[in-house]
Amino acid sequence: MEKGKGTVSIRGWVHRERGSNQLKFITLRDSSNVIQCVFERKDFEKKWDDLDHLQVETSLEITGEIKEDKRAPTGYEIHTTDFNLVGKSENYPITKDQSIDFLADNRHLWLRSRKMTAILKIRSTVIGAIHEYFRKEKFYEYHSPIFQSVQCEGGSTLFEVPYFGKKGVFLAQTWQLYAEPAIFALEKIYTISPSFRAEKSKTSRHLTEYWHAEMEVAWAKFDDIIDYGEGTIKHVVKKVLEENQEELKILGRDPKKLEPTVKKKFPRMTYDDVLKLLKEKFNLKIDWGKDLRTIEEDKLSELFDTPVAVTRYPKQVKAFYMKEPSDSNSKKPVVNGVDFIAPEHYGEIIGGSERESDLEEIKRRLQEQGEDCSNYEFYLDTRKYGSVPHGGFGMGVERLISWICGLDSIKDAIPFPRTMERYKP
Ligand code: 4AD
Repeated sequence: MEKGKGTVSIRGWVHRERGSNQLKFITLRDSSNVIQCVFERKDFEKKWDDLDHLQVETSLEITGEIKEDKRAPTGYEIHTTDFNLVGKSENYPITKDQSIDFLADNRHLWLRSRKMTAILKIRSTVIGAIHEYFRKEKFYEYHSPIFQSVQCEGGSTLFEVPYFGKKGVFLAQTWQLYAEPAIFALEKIYTISPSFRAEKSKTSRHLTEYWHAEMEVAWAKFDDIIDYGEGTIKHVVKKVLEENQEELKILGRDPKKLEPTVKKKFPRMTYDDVLKLLKEKFNLKIDWGKDLRTIEEDKLSELFDTPVAVTRYPKQVKAFYMKEPSDSNSKKPVVNGVDFIAPEHYGEIIGGSERESDLEEIKRRLQEQGEDCSNYEFYLDTRKYGSVPHGGFGMGVERLISWICGLDSIKDAIPFPRTMERYKP
């Protein structure tokens, strides 16, 4: 077909309709875009009644002549010569200016909105780009169980589930403890899988079910883990900029905000550097040993236009499996853990670390948390039989999408968000 000229057949859903009893303008929506279709009464005398009663979200097949028309919303218009009504729609509940709660109750319908369609397309690019990055770097895709018998990221966010009358079965917070055993077989592995956190906090960054892109590498040094984190984010953002300009426009997201992430090297700084910087720039005083809170991460993000990798956190605020570097100060012990803080107040998008290699140290730290080490025997075996230096990270896919799309809430980064209060529909 010549561009913008000739007969076309399309199918889709009525997005808008207006007109008189002589002429109708129907905007038809399909997965690619919307287009205005014009119907003249003289061509449809017998079916005019059907046309007159068409409501939004009716599905139609349309044939007509496509013409360039600068006044039409997408620059083209179809002069309809024939149509077939496929599925009726009556009193579609979503109209203009609905409340957030109403849209959440009708999420199954709200997915059809231009905003959600744009986000879902970007989400698809993001997931594809993560797979592409790790496969290009010669990682194997590996799968861990969702029902797990141990905790990894602290008991307070564990979901315990009924399991044939047995206790101590939890939904995965992370793949990590089941991934580390597999590096002895595959060396470089990754996954994209749901993780679950019983988060009681009502924030714009927390879901109870989120998609987690995780990786684990044998023989890796701490800096290698940070390099992979930076590489993953850069690749994903580059792909979105290449493939989703149209969607970013629909979302009102300025692509220029994302470009530095592709072009510049990310700043890397220690927790101590961050404390100094926040004091100097914002007069924020943080006692050494306290974890960085949202407000501190947000202030830090104001100083950069790319994600920042923060390293060497105090040991006391990080997980039991993180390794203390050899030059750690015994009075103020730190660990080789890294958090990537996104720009523009989007918070932590990656958490990772070099893993502790010392068996006794891991046991000691598990016991400190009140854990029974006998539940962790399968994990502790990784340090008994040919242990090697290794590490990995986890990236919150919805946090990354939220930032890329410039969303107000993480809830719009996933089709059916789950939070403490929302588990329906
Ligand atoms: O920092 P976290 O807890 O790290 C881990 O789970 C490690 N075991 C990962 C690893 O080394 N394999 O979580 C990793 C990332 C966070 O940086 C954040 O982006 C995301 O997961 N995340 C959440 N995203 C949405 N909702 C929540 N409730 C989240 N909790 C963590």
